[in-house]
Amino acid sequence: MMPMSGELSLVLTLGVMVGMAILLGFLFRPTGSADPCEMNCRAIKLGKKLGEGSFGVVYQGLYNNTPVAVKTLRRGTMDPRDFLKEAQIMKTMEHPNLIRLLAVCTEEPIYIITELMKNGSLLDYLKVRVGRLRLYDQIEMAAQVASGMAYLEMKNYIHRDLAARNVLVGENNVYKVADFGLARVLQATPMLSNQTKMYYISVGKAIFPLRWTAPEAIANERFTIKCDVWSFGILLYEIMTFGEIPYPNMTDSQVKQMVPNGYRMPCPVDPYCSKDMYKIMLDCWKENKYDRPTFKALKMRLRDVSG
Ligand SMILES: Nc1ncnc2c1ncn2[C@@H]1O[C@H](COP(=O)(O)OP(=O)(O)OP(=O)(O)O)[C@@H](O)[C@H]1O
Ligand SMILES: [Mg+2]
Repeated sequence: MMPMSGELSLVLTLGVMVGMAILLGFLFRPTGSADPCEMNCRAIKLGKKLGEGSFGVVYQGLYNNTPVAVKTLRRGTMDPRDFLKEAQIMKTMEHPNLIRLLAVCTEEPIYIITELMKNGSLLDYLKVRVGRLRLYDQIEMAAQVASGMAYLEMKNYIHRDLAARNVLVGENNVYKVADFGLARVLQATPMLSNQTKMYYISVGKAIFPLRWTAPEAIANERFTIKCDVWSFGILLYEIMTFGEIPYPNMTDSQVKQMVPNGYRMPCPVDPYCSKDMYKIMLDCWKENKYDRPTFKALKMRLRDVSG
């Protein structure tokens, strides 16, 4: 055997060390976050309040020294066991346009720990930018949401509460869909808070965001991905009107009565209206759910809309 030169043995030693490091890195790679069942609530440090929704308060927090958002749910909003089951599924959903679920704490009050989004909800973001966004920006928002939803569609997962309040805005114009699947485990409590009443109605044991929900879902209390497509059309309306409430001049009972009978919102007023975007809205609101586009198709179509 040829004696090894000093340089060759150095290269070989370094190679072995790098190989070992890669192997160790693979064996002991971080799994991303703690198991949702094992989360210790005391590991979370709560910081300032970020906002409040119908079902609880959201705080900024620190988890493993990383800034996170902590959603706290009011007692009675869901059964902790049902929620834990759902959280196991939610945790497997990973996409650049979906909010990442990091951990949950199922002792009441339930905590949901997610990635923190610097610019808050899309609804608030739109409202303070009335007339200040270009059509190009609005199409970009819609396209990113469609992309996150196309992933859920591919995974056969239904959102059930797609709306501008449930899309969050990060840095560099990144938009992510939040709160997917949560609505499935929400229970109708006898007393809906005032804010809850703003968006949700209870039908039997379930809660629906009336103005975002497809008529067939309210009629038969069954959600499908095609109901999410309907809600996406309403979300487009919110984007194009800078956060206007859908069916602005109608009461809840008018919405409940007129939409199943074919009423659809008119094209948002000029100069912000885009006929192409309105055509997409109308396609999402087709009466026959099978005539509505898929999210995959919407994602591609939004790429072709000129802004
Ligand atoms: N991950 C997050 N990062 C930053 N801010 C967040 C995050 N999640 C929620 N928020 C803030 O907290 C607010 C309340 O959120 P929450 O989901 O509880 O209610 P909502 O979606 O506004 O309304 P509802 O629960 O009635 O549908 C949001 O509007 C947003 O400003
Ligand atoms: Mg929300």
